[in-house]
Amino acid sequence: MAEKILVVDDDVESLKLIGMMLKRQGYEVVMANSGNQALMKAGIEKPQLVILDVMMADMDGYEVCRRLRGNPETRPIPIIMFTAKTLIDDKVAGFEAGADDYLTKPTHPAELASRIKAVLGRNATASQHIRPQGIAVGVLGSKGGIGTTTVAVNMAVALAQTKQRPIIADFQLGTGAAAAQLGMTGKLDGMATVLTRPVPDIRGPLVMQHLLQHTTGARLLASSADPKEAHTKYPLEAAVATVKALKGLSTHVMCDLGTGYTEMTAKLLNSLDKLVVLVEPIPVAMNAAEQLLGALRTDFTDKPIHLVVVNRSPLARYTITWTDVEARLGQSVAGMVSAAPEVAYQALETGQPIVVLQPNAVVSNQLIKLAQTVQN
Ligand SMILES: Nc1ncnc2c1ncn2[C@@H]1O[C@H](COP(=O)(O)OP(=O)(O)OP(=O)(O)O)[C@@H](O)[C@H]1O
Ligand SMILES: [Mg+2]
Repeated sequence: MAEKILVVDDDVESLKLIGMMLKRQGYEVVMANSGNQALMKAGIEKPQLVILDVMMADMDGYEVCRRLRGNPETRPIPIIMFTAKTLIDDKVAGFEAGADDYLTKPTHPAELASRIKAVLGRNATASQHIRPQGIAVGVLGSKGGIGTTTVAVNMAVALAQTKQRPIIADFQLGTGAAAAQLGMTGKLDGMATVLTRPVPDIRGPLVMQHLLQHTTGARLLASSADPKEAHTKYPLEAAVATVKALKGLSTHVMCDLGTGYTEMTAKLLNSLDKLVVLVEPIPVAMNAAEQLLGALRTDFTDKPIHLVVVNRSPLARYTITWTDVEARLGQSVAGMVSAAPEVAYQALETGQPIVVLQPNAVVSNQLIKLAQTVQN
């Protein structure tokens, strides 16, 4: 299949000339005669390469380049800047705006061909190596209601601030709470819809259609709070296929797995790269945590399990210390989430995640730090 190249120039003659050269060399050519048209066509046509003139009336090539780089959809497309000017400053500006290579007009067809081949070749190898086969993190509570969803949602939102586009996969059909924490309303049956599709159909393009976009850049495959949704029947392989598809769509997928060692969690372990297990440091909760970790260590070998202590009780006398937790569970603690009932309540009330609502609160720092620990 011929590679598609978008050529952008507001001088129609030179547009035609380059277009003709490229067609002769066997490429499929799409043309745009303004910066705005270029941005539109790059989004629709998804070219493998953009050749961009610097001097254009409506918007210069640097600006077009910056905007292409600023949009996650067009960010990976290689760009060759093209200009009549030969000043070194222009090259610097071009590379700063995010261009991959630079050509000066007029260009000999042979030189054009070799530069295009080089850029396309480089990109093909690069994308084979860095193709975003993201990581999936299973977030799991050793007990219900201890903040599993809060941790999954806030870690994803924290990661979104470093310009990645993480995904939250809410596997709690019928008791989905991630959407509410993100203040998202509307159609929340994305997860149920995906899980009930034939397993071979559950792939990136299908799953992508059901992702909800949050203003922070995080995305959500939502479960609703409609109790009947919990009756949805689906094979566990569908959950596995969903996680795999999501890993192809983002560098980080936070899976809200709810409480305890469910059949689905067991089935998903192979596709998960890490686990975050929440424990509450009170004596009555320790036994459950100990048993859960014991089971997970047997079935989730050679992959990290991050232990997170969620301390919701302000009553110190019931609380086991961090060191005692480590001793009892035989594992070091990766992070801590302190009691923050006020901000947790406000977060739900306003539909804003804790790290967005009060980014400087102690609990936010803890959640952000946890996200950083887990991201690598
Ligand atoms: N650090 C915290 N301090 C105090 N309250 C918190 C904290 N984190 C979460 N909460 C509150 O605890 C409640 C449960 O939170 P969340 O829904 O995240 O827990 P969960 O473990 O996912 O619950 P479920 O078992 O129902 O899925 C919510 O009201 C939330 O606002
Ligand atoms: Mg939950």
